[in-house]
Amino acid sequence: MIKHFETIEQQGQDDLAAIYQLALAAFDDETLKGQGVALVFEHPSLRTRASCSTAVHELGGYATFFSDEEIGLDSRESVEDVGRTLAEMYAIAALRVRNHSVFARIRAATNDRLALINLLSNEAHPTQAVADVLTLAEYFANGDVSALAGLNVAYVGDATNVTRSLAVALLRLGVNVTIGAPDDYQLRTQGVEDPLLVRAGGALRLTDSPNDAVKDADAVYTDAWISMGAESQAVKRREALSPYRVDGALMAHAKEGAVLLHCLPAHRGEEITDEVLDAPNSLVWRQVFHRRSAMIGILRWMKEENV
Ligand code: CP
Ligand code: NVA
Repeated sequence: MIKHFETIEQQGQDDLAAIYQLALAAFDDETLKGQGVALVFEHPSLRTRASCSTAVHELGGYATFFSDEEIGLDSRESVEDVGRTLAEMYAIAALRVRNHSVFARIRAATNDRLALINLLSNEAHPTQAVADVLTLAEYFANGDVSALAGLNVAYVGDATNVTRSLAVALLRLGVNVTIGAPDDYQLRTQGVEDPLLVRAGGALRLTDSPNDAVKDADAVYTDAWISMGAESQAVKRREALSPYRVDGALMAHAKEGAVLLHCLPAHRGEEITDEVLDAPNSLVWRQVFHRRSAMIGILRWMKEENV
């Protein structure tokens, strides 16, 4: 059966456990020997493009990069025809897209014969979530992902694509997640039926108070206020989100020694201050390091059955 990695919600517990394990376990370089992975980006990227390219190379394959300017999803040709074309040349395509529906459209157009990886969509950033789990496990549990249960993680700011994937991944591991955001920028859930909460071992708490959100937090996470695609709302967002800036004063409300996470790119002085981002308890560069480990785990997991 072909495997995709589109959201954390869609992954089974065994799949996620395998990905975490394969991300950290030793490997030979035969996994992608001689095989290409198509990388399609509708938005800019540094970490994601770098981690994909290096992971594919380390596994013996090669990555081909396509920018939106070149291939024009739904402008130069349809998403379906892009998918059909890539399926003739590649077994795996990894995409950063404006609209999450691109994944279902490519699956349908290719009769599900091209394995897809979501490198960020308007709804999810699951490869980032894998890296974040690996980062927290390294810091708090000697790398043992299964030992994170009971940890308290607070997310403060705009509840983005990153927030949702992070929350699902952590809740599944028994981590308690609190999100501090104004109502208009809070995580949307669809009650107990929400895939976000299925198999959740940890508790999810939503609040509009940043101080309350970080109370008892072992780790505080934030992301951009103006995500890619939301540029036209910049003024409104800055106004609504400014009380949610992660600075030294806010960190003082968290547990003593609490660590700081941010997916990057950071907007210094906006959602986060230099004093916090550059502090010794900032794990942001370990997150970057683990982006590559995460990609290696995801690609190895895909190839386990996609051979
Ligand atoms: N965190 C992240 O996805 O970074 P890039 O947008 O630079 O890839
Ligand atoms: N929420 C951000 C994440 C960037 C990695 C965005 O979508 O732009």
